[in-house]
Amino acid sequence: MAGHLLIIDYGSQFTQLIARKTRALGYYAEILPAGIPVGEALAQRPGALILSGGPASVDEPGAPGLDPELLEAGIPMLGICYGMQLLARALGGRLTREAHGEYGPAELEPTAPSPLWRPLNGSERLRVWMSHGDRVEEAPPGFRITGRTQDLPVAAMEDWERRIFCLQFHTEVHHTEKGSELLQAFLSEAGLENGWRMSSFARDAVEEIKRTVGPDGHVLCGLSGGVDSTVAAALLARAVGPRLHCVFVDNGLLRQDEASEVVEGFRLCYPDLRLTVADAGAEFLSRLQGVADPEEKRRIIGHTFIEVFSREARKIGQADFLAQGTLYPDVIESVSPQGPSALIKSHHNVGGLPKELGFTLIEPLKYLFKDEVRELGAELGVPECLLWRHPFPGPGLAIRIIGPVDRESLSLLRKADAIVREELRASGLDRVVWQAFAVLLPVRSVGVMGDGRSYGQVVAVRAVTSVDAMTADWARLPDDLLARFSSRIINEVPGVNRVLYDISSKPPSTIEWE
Ligand code: XMP
Repeated sequence: MAGHLLIIDYGSQFTQLIARKTRALGYYAEILPAGIPVGEALAQRPGALILSGGPASVDEPGAPGLDPELLEAGIPMLGICYGMQLLARALGGRLTREAHGEYGPAELEPTAPSPLWRPLNGSERLRVWMSHGDRVEEAPPGFRITGRTQDLPVAAMEDWERRIFCLQFHTEVHHTEKGSELLQAFLSEAGLENGWRMSSFARDAVEEIKRTVGPDGHVLCGLSGGVDSTVAAALLARAVGPRLHCVFVDNGLLRQDEASEVVEGFRLCYPDLRLTVADAGAEFLSRLQGVADPEEKRRIIGHTFIEVFSREARKIGQADFLAQGTLYPDVIESVSPQGPSALIKSHHNVGGLPKELGFTLIEPLKYLFKDEVRELGAELGVPECLLWRHPFPGPGLAIRIIGPVDRESLSLLRKADAIVREELRASGLDRVVWQAFAVLLPVRSVGVMGDGRSYGQVVAVRAVTSVDAMTADWARLPDDLLARFSSRIINEVPGVNRVLYDISSKPPSTIEWE
């Protein structure tokens, strides 16, 4: 059987999309950074290779290159954008640097038959999406040109005998018509089988955990109630049953009814699961007293979390492994050709724990994207109410209260936030929106309530759409829904006399306010 698809990442912002699209088609795909030794890539015995796009220019100093050994391995290959230019350079084609580059839509005209054009009807033209500064002027010897656009004489080319295919446009982006079908045509031409299903992933992951943990090992898992740790716990519960110990830290910064929803949800679905609840609200609050700086809040919360978690772990005693819900984008990002992205916010996680406590780390979701985690959760029978919870940051409501955090602000924000979530659910838009929440601002405003003057607090409502939280847009919610947020918050939350709706996208803003 042919192996899986290996994507070599030359730094394009769309590389992850190639993996997501091909996995959605049932082909398992992994991403390796361009600098990886070729032996390591070949050791995976890939059945096909895709060379991704990238921001560099092939001929500029320090641009990532193509190891000839990879070419000699005889593996069917598709070069996309920079990947195409690399192949053209390596195989004797001619490249030129364009004065302005080409960004945006173009019309692709197939000029010769190709296995990649199988999804097209006859000589159908396709609207495709370009993003490049260099172009192939002359195809390498042995290649034939299979497509052009009005401005680009070589928009697609291939050496069918060597099964090397090249596309200048980005098949993986939403704006390219039939992009998934073109990828599928390449993968089926490469002889890959599209048998990758979440059910088989779940089965293999359970077996892998069993092998790692052995017949007697115990695993500790921090449950936050978020989808990643929930699905990780469900997978571990299936693999090691009563040898899984979950710890839920109630840091006092949770949303209304959050602790009870998560704990009861888990106890109901997994009655045999050992679940410890650490009630540490007072500890977190006293350390946060008077702290207004967002990074300082995050640091305090992160450290306190580790202390509380370590204390609970010591009480449990016998665990050798620590499970974390790390996702594939985190893994890729830490080895991406561009290096880890600049620090915007120090996201709270339990990364410091294993070293400190001498655990071996288990990361059962580290090959999955967020949407795949939900699919896996459904496969494992995790109830929808746990699976479709909106993401909630580790530092909780503390980073949604601008300024110092105290019990009164928390109580006010909890009420406002509960109204936002309740109204959104009632409107049926809950799943359209990535996240929706309330933020308490450190300003007061004048209002008129009844016949009197009020001088009250201001709440901002934030609702965003996103696919991965890397970018986000403010949700265009119906006016009447916005009106309900406003009138209910002002009427039902004492002390609030003004509600704002946040209309900022990410970038340049972030999703959370702190
Ligand atoms: P930002 O605000 O950076 O948030 O646009 C992106 C996504 O990450 C969540 N977030 C966090 N999640 N610990 C977490 O576990 C954190 O410290 C943290 N900060 C932000 C945020 O809610 C959004 O989904």
